Formats: sequence, structure tokens, C-alpha cells
Amino acid sequence: MTEVVVVDSPDSASALAAELILSKVRTKPALRLGVATGATPVSLYRQMAVLAKQFGIDLGELQAYALDEYVGLEPGSPQSFRHFLEEHFIEVLGLDPNCLVVPSGDVATIATAGDHFEKAILDTGGIDCQILGIGSNGHIGFNEPGSSLGSRTRVKTLTENTRRDNGAYFSQPEDVPVHCISQGIGTILEARSLVMLAFGDKKAEAVASAVEGPISASCPASAIQLHPHATVILDEGAASRLEQLRYYKFVWENKPDWQSWRLS
Ligand code: PGA
Repeated sequence: MTEVVVVDSPDSASALAAELILSKVRTKPALRLGVATGATPVSLYRQMAVLAKQFGIDLGELQAYALDEYVGLEPGSPQSFRHFLEEHFIEVLGLDPNCLVVPSGDVATIATAGDHFEKAILDTGGIDCQILGIGSNGHIGFNEPGSSLGSRTRVKTLTENTRRDNGAYFSQPEDVPVHCISQGIGTILEARSLVMLAFGDKKAEAVASAVEGPISASCPASAIQLHPHATVILDEGAASRLEQLRYYKFVWENKPDWQSWRLS
């Protein structure tokens, strides 16, 4: 069963996710972490910095792999996901920028960029833990509804819904690129564990479809049900459409100590 944890606020959810990830770094300092962009993981990265300091966890060997990137932006564009991750992940955690691998959205090399990125993941032994957000349309990475559940890193065309959701990062919504390069759902499912975060009522329907709906390309995030080690951490708003909410809370409250990933 997908582990679903519901807490009272986005900050508590981020702190809990930070504990889960740092407990993995403690066991494996050279953890290969799949990192997500968007509003959701920003406080997770901040909490990781705070807790790593508090618990004396060295992040110097961490390696990071982005989920996706826009195609066709100018190199160094402030809207690029590379820039976002340099600002909100690398700088916040004080990491070496060279530890971050992002699929290239450069049009000149786009035909081979997906294979190149897949090879970079494989060459280092695969992603240990993949952080995920979820789009209001159920996408993970930029795998829009209809994406193959076996897909690999490749170019995708963004939906109008996603371009509208991401319009706030651009001076005008029409500037949001039409194309992106994204880890495929098959790529994501090969990570050894998944940690999905979602906050607010706006995500409630997508979360319910992902966790309790049928596994379907119509809701790409539902593919996480196929993963043996997926944890979904939600605030009350994002959890508000879950039918089994009371049961998830009961499971969490009764989680045996020997299964715990809390830091101490
Ligand atoms: P958000 O995006 O974190 O900005 O809500 C999540 C996503 O689209 O995957």
C-alpha cells in the first residue's frame, strides 16, 4: 500500500519529508536524490538545510537529478528549472553545483538529450529517492495525462492547464514554453523510493486519483501505486478528497518503531 501521511500544514509536511530524506542520507551519504521543482518542494529544501545542521548530517556527497526542464529557453534563463534548483536547492543546502544533473532543454541537442540523461542516471547506479510534486491535472514530472506508464526521459508537449499553472513564473503566460523534457513514468518508477508532497485543496482531486483511483495514464501520478516504497505526505487540504483518510491516519499513528524514519 502507498504510505499516506497527513499533517496539519505544509511546513509540518516539509519537515517530515526532510526527516525521511535525511534518514536515508545518514545511511548512505552519497545518496542519489531526484529533485523536483515548483512551489511545493521549496520549504522541503529549506527544512533539509535546517535539520542537516541540527543533526550534524553531512550533505557533501549528495548527488541530484532533476525531473524535467523546459525546451528552448536561453541558457541561464531565470525561468529554467536548472536555475530554480541552483537557487532553491543547491544554494540553500550549500552544495557543489556540479552535483546537479538536469536534462538539457537545448534545442540543438534535444534529439539525444533524453538518452543522455537516462545514461547519466544509469551510470551512477540509479536514483535512490525521487521527490515528486503533483500537478492539478495529475501529472508527475511533466508527464501529462495520457503519458505512457512505461515512458523514459523524452520531449513532451505541455497542456494548456500546466502552462496556465506555471504562467506565474513568466512575465506573461504565453511565454511558457510549449515543450519540455521530462523523466518518463518508467524512469521515475525505477527510483528505489518515492516521496510525493502535495499541499492545498487545489491538489485534492489529483491526489485522490493518484492514491485511490485506478492506475491509469489519465492520471500519471496513479503509477506510484505500482511502486513498493512510495510515501505521500499531505496537508489537510490536499488530503480532503481521500476516502480512506481515517485509515491512513490510523496506520501512521500505529507505525511500529522499527519502521520509523524519524531523526533522533
Ligand atoms: P507546484 O507544481 O509544486 O508548483 O504545485 C507541482 C507540479 O506541477 O508537479
